[in-house]
Amino acid sequence: MKLAFVGKGGSGKTTMASLFARRAAGLGHAVMAIDADINQHLAAALGLDPDEAAIDPVLGERLGDVKEYLRGTNPLIPSAELMLKTTPPGPGSRLLTVGESNPVYDEVFRDVEGIRFAATGGFVDDDLGVACYHSKVGAVELMLNHMIDREDEFVVVDMVAGAEAFASGMFTRFDQTFLVCEPTLRSVGVYRQYAGYAADYDVDIAVIGNKIDDADDVDFLREHVGEALLGWCSRSRYIKAAERGRIGPIDELEEDNLAVLDAARERAVAAGKDWEKFTRQAHEFHRRAAESWGNDRAGIDLADQIVPDYILGEHLLRAQTV
Ligand SMILES: Nc1ncnc2c1ncn2[C@@H]1O[C@H](COP(=O)(O)OP(=O)(O)O)[C@@H](O)[C@H]1O
Ligand SMILES: [Mg+2]
Repeated sequence: MKLAFVGKGGSGKTTMASLFARRAAGLGHAVMAIDADINQHLAAALGLDPDEAAIDPVLGERLGDVKEYLRGTNPLIPSAELMLKTTPPGPGSRLLTVGESNPVYDEVFRDVEGIRFAATGGFVDDDLGVACYHSKVGAVELMLNHMIDREDEFVVVDMVAGAEAFASGMFTRFDQTFLVCEPTLRSVGVYRQYAGYAADYDVDIAVIGNKIDDADDVDFLREHVGEALLGWCSRSRYIKAAERGRIGPIDELEEDNLAVLDAARERAVAAGKDWEKFTRQAHEFHRRAAESWGNDRAGIDLADQIVPDYILGEHLLRAQTV
């Protein structure tokens, strides 16, 4: 399952993504975790040694390699230059699985306590950062579009804060989106904004309340997000200790908070995968990118890269010979 953690900055996206990933890995699931935020904190939250936390290389710097690898022998993509971040796979493309080994994973992913981790790379300058961010995160979008994950495997993506996540089609690349929400007006404001976009694209959002102190907090969230509220994580001593560099074993997280992580995982699995929708939306966003700027740059119609009946799914892995 491909899972996104979104929400207002500071709401706890990174915290919840890391706890989710560690819990799932602790239960024996194959887990990949990708930091796709401008502010890169997921490595530290997963417990990567601060000395190693300057991740190098990062996915954002390897977009060319990612394209070169994924296009494989697809005759519709004769060069990496003709591959947009939206270019969908077709016959000859290389597909990815969560657990495999390949040159891209070898280069940019590292093992953090059994979790496969990579980062897109961060940005310091705010203005340049956002524009730059969307091109760097393209490697993640491409990987998601080529990833054939099973329902008992999890690709956890820590997303950029707020509505910035909508500036590309990436928000449609997930089987389930978890919106982390504090009991504040600003946080539920981000939910409302996200829910508005999501409704147009049939994106399933589950709200995970965070930093909950009491019943009033829960009532506030219920009042503002209603049925979308999946559960909530209390203000946590475990999380506070982790923030101070003491990351305890995941099963030492407070019982109620573990239960939220389990409910989130079960919710995603119960919703299941819809490969047909995933493929259709990939094609839609590629067509849009081709028309709006890609074709001008390439001098050809890049929408021709779409193979309409190449629907992603596990059946393709059986056919793939690498
Ligand atoms: N349930 C919680 N209890 C206590 N502190 C929390 C909790 N969730 C998050 N925090 C703290 O809030 C801050 C912001 O969390 P973070 O996950 O970095 O947010 P985001 O990724 O959304 O910007 C961090 O210092 C984190 O340790
Ligand atoms: Mg964060």
